[in-house]
Amino acid sequence: MSPSILNANFDDLENEISKVSAVSDFLHLDIMDNKFVPNLTFTFDKASEIIDFSKLPVDAHLMIEDPDDQAPRYAQAGCYSVTFHFEAVKDARNTIKNIRSNGSKVGVAIKPKTDLSKVADLIQDIDLLLVMTVEPGFGGQSFMHDQMIKVKSAREYINKCQEPRPLLQVDGGISESTIQIAAESGANCFVAGSAVYKSKDPAQMILTLRQLALEGSNF
Ligand code: DX5
Ligand code: ZN
Repeated sequence: MSPSILNANFDDLENEISKVSAVSDFLHLDIMDNKFVPNLTFTFDKASEIIDFSKLPVDAHLMIEDPDDQAPRYAQAGCYSVTFHFEAVKDARNTIKNIRSNGSKVGVAIKPKTDLSKVADLIQDIDLLLVMTVEPGFGGQSFMHDQMIKVKSAREYINKCQEPRPLLQVDGGISESTIQIAAESGANCFVAGSAVYKSKDPAQMILTLRQLALEGSNF
């Protein structure tokens, strides 16, 4: 479980993160530059501050135009993993190498309209594949069920990889009513933003979501 703080209270992030720290695996940090997506979130300095005070390993999701140059900086800043968008990168292999040499795990993300075939030959060389289940840019959107075909194919690819196999992450619209179908389709890492932070008890929501995912997973 990787809660996203995109819809948390930005004026009290330390407290917001502490609500989920004991029960989550990662902290999902959405970086948007108002170019790759029409929204702006954290500056690099603010992100570095969050990475420093987060007790959870930070799973950075870069929705930015220039990951080739920027992604290694997030690795240097101490992220556990740095995920860039395939649609934005110029040299995926080089960026993978640069993130890794700066000490982070590497993720590659694809938007709903991007075919899995575009990233198929990278899957063996990364630690996380992120299949977006909404158009990136905003929290609180509806889960795109049509992406489950892609998640199923991604699971087949990943199962053929050598261990350790990359995580298969889904991001967007994950809630009590959608997490099970994502898990049944083969996802094993779940980002949830509004479902967690709109809930009265974010920690309990994480536990509920994890339980539903475990019940749904069959691979
Ligand atoms: C959207 C972001 C997500 C977002 C998910 O572009 O990448 O991580 O926070 O929010 P929910 O769970 O509300 O769809
Ligand atoms: Zn995200």
